[in-house]
Amino acid sequence: MSMMQNFVGWIDDRFPMTKVWNEHLAQYYAPKNFNFWYFMGSLAMLMLVNQILTGVWLAMSYKPDAGLAFASVEYIMRDVEWGWLIRYMHSTGASAFFIVIYLHMFRGLMYGSYRKPRELLWVIGVIVYLAMMATAFMGYLLPWGQMSYWGAQVIVNLFSAVPVIGPDLGVWIRGDYVISDATLNRFFALHFLLPFVLAALVFIHIVALHKVGSNNPDGIEIKKGPKGNKWSDTAPADGIPFHPYYSVKDIAGVAGFLFLFAAVIFFAPEMGGYFLEHPNFEPANPLKTPAHIAPVWYFTPFYAILRAVPSIAGSAFPGVVAMFGSILVMFFLPWLDRSPVKSIRYKGGLYKVVLGLFVVDFIVLGYLGTQPTTDLYKLMAQIGTIYYFAFFLLMPIYSKMDKTKPVPERVTQ
Ligand code: HEM
Repeated sequence: MSMMQNFVGWIDDRFPMTKVWNEHLAQYYAPKNFNFWYFMGSLAMLMLVNQILTGVWLAMSYKPDAGLAFASVEYIMRDVEWGWLIRYMHSTGASAFFIVIYLHMFRGLMYGSYRKPRELLWVIGVIVYLAMMATAFMGYLLPWGQMSYWGAQVIVNLFSAVPVIGPDLGVWIRGDYVISDATLNRFFALHFLLPFVLAALVFIHIVALHKVGSNNPDGIEIKKGPKGNKWSDTAPADGIPFHPYYSVKDIAGVAGFLFLFAAVIFFAPEMGGYFLEHPNFEPANPLKTPAHIAPVWYFTPFYAILRAVPSIAGSAFPGVVAMFGSILVMFFLPWLDRSPVKSIRYKGGLYKVVLGLFVVDFIVLGYLGTQPTTDLYKLMAQIGTIYYFAFFLLMPIYSKMDKTKPVPERVTQ
């Protein structure tokens, strides 16, 4: 026995290192027909690591104090060595993270990855998504620019619209009657904490994934298919070991992604005001409301829904309910889809049209959320909101009506 084998044996007697490696990598059999969309999970993990690492480095020079925060970010940008890069990796990283996650979720919609037995995996995913939104929202306050300040003011005021407990809830969140130094301090503390909660949630997400196994573009269960391949007599015939096949494939995905990510960081880190909004290059001024307040792009579909719903007796509460409802409805997706097939490949034209329109709807709502309201835009947002909810709530009906195709016995390549 070599020294290395001795050493591994010594560890294995005390910690299940080889067992974990085999169960989750070298002898973990994933469907052999993964495509482009299956890169997104590993890219999301990469982005989470990127956010944590660059975030910790930013925190070394950042000051969570209303009098110092804005200048400390400028100091990072100008004086800290490579500070500009770390900051842009973090701010562009936040947008990249959401792009990757939206593609990841869309993959789930396409291939029915939320259906039995993956309901809990999906539900954990939605919790992860909520935690991501909370983290990003608190992070955006930290540079203490005009949009940080007024964006937070608008969003926290939404909580104040809740009947009875609203006003107290608003004060409780802010720690003050307006967004202030106390708010900045607590948002910094929570923004530092939440990514680690996210990491724990992602761990649970992966545990759930490995319990049931991955879905695939055909939406059929390889575990239920024939058994036996050149690696194992008991493994699904259509499964290949995650390592080295998918570890290598994912590395290729990471390389491709990093080209794009670097291009944006170096040439368009603000993305024309979509990733970092222009008013945020001015320090927060509680006495000067910007002409137009809009959240960052990844929140704007939900912001458009908020503004589309009319107030009742001057209260924005109905809009707040619709906005939170539009996110919470995602939890129910596994039980709303009644189609006999999972993947879009075997669904009929009806679902393809409905899903295509949903994507258009989400993008249009996202655009409307960035714009000041006009009568036309408000009407469009109202139609968009109705379609958004119809997509989910009418799914039990149209998913049953849809003419599906027969599903193959084995995965196709
Ligand atoms: C930090 C965020 C997230 C990370 C790091 C992450 C990570 C992963 C990874 C590594 C996989 C396996 C590889 C793949 O299928 O792409 C996966 C699968 C999956 N994730 Fe996520 N995920 C995240 C967020 C979400 C969200 C927000 C949802 C849905 C709301 C979701 C739903 C799913 C589903 C349904 C699968 C199984 C897909 C299939 O087998 O077809 N995930 N995730």
